[in-house]
Amino acid sequence: MKTTFIKADPSDFVPELLAPAARAIREGGLCVFPTETVYGIGGDATSSESARKIYAAKGRPSDNPLIIHVAFPEEAEKYAVTAPLYYRLAKHFMPGPLTVIMERRETVPKEVTGGLDTVAVRCPQHPVAHELIRLAGVPIAAPSANISGRPSATSARYAAEDFDGKVEYIIDGGRCDVGLESTIVKITGDDSLVLLRPGAVTYEALLCVCGDVTVSDAAAGAVLKEDERPVCPGMKYRHYAPSKPLTLVRGSDAARTAFFRSRLEEGQTVIICSSEQAAQMPEGSAVIDIGPADDLGAQGRMIFDALRRSDELPGNRIFAEMPPAEGLGLALYNRLIRAAAHTVADADA
Ligand code: TXA
Ligand code: MG
Repeated sequence: MKTTFIKADPSDFVPELLAPAARAIREGGLCVFPTETVYGIGGDATSSESARKIYAAKGRPSDNPLIIHVAFPEEAEKYAVTAPLYYRLAKHFMPGPLTVIMERRETVPKEVTGGLDTVAVRCPQHPVAHELIRLAGVPIAAPSANISGRPSATSARYAAEDFDGKVEYIIDGGRCDVGLESTIVKITGDDSLVLLRPGAVTYEALLCVCGDVTVSDAAAGAVLKEDERPVCPGMKYRHYAPSKPLTLVRGSDAARTAFFRSRLEEGQTVIICSSEQAAQMPEGSAVIDIGPADDLGAQGRMIFDALRRSDELPGNRIFAEMPPAEGLGLALYNRLIRAAAHTVADADA
């Protein structure tokens, strides 16, 4: 298939530019598009045939449900059984990086939700995503635009690496602001929810809107047992992984510096770390600086790029600084611990 590229500067684009891509979606085709979190690969969320195409293009197991993207929060009504708590969340966090799981209505085919009776709804903030959904006139089912198991794509370049030739359109809307996939919550009661995937809408922020927020084991980054069925099906798969083995390194700053330096001296090593650590590594070594230690927002924007770039650098192993598992750090930690398949080294030991 020939893929057409469309460039759309999020701060200055003519909506009509997106019309051909919107039409392609409405007619059953696929389109890669930017959101504020990561790029998505989208199709008509009301079509089981489009869902089948998405699973095929991604190489994704069809029991792993897709998120439905709507242009306005109240459109969720058509596809899910909404509750007052949904509107409270929407008021605070939508449009934005939050996905809410609710009971599915028949308007959404089971193929889209991996056979589940629930559906995940998200209203993205990115102006290009918003216009695309609006112009398509149908909700857009979209997983992250990466081949299953690979790090999510936060720029059109990386999305094209995985999908050029497999979709009708790739819309380049620049780099994603957040860089980590949306926070996913499931409404479980009038004032209770479960956090299934941490993201830029943090646990702490959710607590300001909902009295009872439970962090699922998967969100906390726990290892799931072989026979355990995760609440969020995507959490059972190896994920976000670069092709080289990755180890997370915890410990005091000084111990980590020494640890990274000694591994670099041994050779064949790529380091992913904060600017402060990077400044202490030998000139010319394979070090990817993901931003200041106290700026987790910057690190979130960079982390998936760093994982992809680490594959392009020479070396056969990667070590990365382990982020603090709280606030936005929990989202970073959750992605990295799974990319590392739970391999952790203690620099203080
Ligand atoms: O930021 C994002 O959420 C991006 C952009 C494109 O919007 N999308 C994204 O989709 O990350 P995906 O498919 O890569 O991740 C969605 C996760 C999967 O782990 C899936 O299992 C879970 O959401 N999920 C979707 N529907 C669900 C449901 N009904 N119940 C439980 N988990 C669900
Ligand atoms: Mg994904």
